[in-house]
Amino acid sequence: MAELINGKVFAAHLRAQLKDYVKQLQRQHQMVPGLAVVLVGDDAASQIYVRNKHRQALECGLRPATHSLPSTTTQGELLDVVTQLNANPTINGILVQLPLPRHIDSMAVLNAIDPDKDVDGFHPINVGRLTLGAPRLIPCTPLGCLLLLHHHLDNLSGLEAVVLGRSNIVGKPMAQLLLAEHCTVTIAHSRTRNLPAVCRRADIVVTAVGQPGLVQADWIKPGATVLDVGINRVTEGDQTRLVGDVDFAAVAEVAGAITPVPGGVGPMTIACLLRNTVTATCWQQGWPIPE
Ligand code: GUN
Repeated sequence: MAELINGKVFAAHLRAQLKDYVKQLQRQHQMVPGLAVVLVGDDAASQIYVRNKHRQALECGLRPATHSLPSTTTQGELLDVVTQLNANPTINGILVQLPLPRHIDSMAVLNAIDPDKDVDGFHPINVGRLTLGAPRLIPCTPLGCLLLLHHHLDNLSGLEAVVLGRSNIVGKPMAQLLLAEHCTVTIAHSRTRNLPAVCRRADIVVTAVGQPGLVQADWIKPGATVLDVGINRVTEGDQTRLVGDVDFAAVAEVAGAITPVPGGVGPMTIACLLRNTVTATCWQQGWPIPE
């Protein structure tokens, strides 16, 4: 039976460490890092995520500011908000919640965020830094996965890693992080031929596809580490529950270690956002970057 990777406990530990560090910054420098979170429209899931980001930032001792804009906001208006936040010295981190309404070009908005305040790590400069092996602000979910992997594996060097999904938010940056750890990395996706055979090569599997129950027990090499980034709502009768991309019960019989959904990778994302806010502040001020 696989070891359970408890992201909820790990994330709580990370937040406690950050809270101490933020207190220390306040004592030494009389400043509190500010995090701006911008939400456009009324997507129900995004509203919950943004509320949680705001609440957890506050609990960590940061100064969060949520900007909720109507779904009719134009691209120009949103770009004006971003420009104002870039120029605001009390704001150290900026996050624009995705997805944006269809009439707004997300790429144009992400490109407008000051790369030094880009706590999502989505700006092309930060993507480039990661790709060149000199990362500064790293996308939160892949960073959370990497911290969990480091906690559970002594050394990633030379391991076979398979990332399922090629999104800019998870799949691509995850692959870059694993490559930087000297893994042999495969990015698999919807056009990949013989996905089960590709997966069976892996010592590490990271799935970010959004397909409940996709990864089966016979896709997994015995002893492999499986990180499930999928968050899928499935309805059974009148009950809705969250499941990942992995057939958890069956895969847990084969894997060496596995993240559950919920309580695995999910809680790490916001903890890493808070960590990135502190990291961004320290870069901006020339202070030591916390471990
Ligand atoms: N929507 C889903 N995940 C994310 C994320 O990590 N950052 C932002 N900004 N939006 C998201």
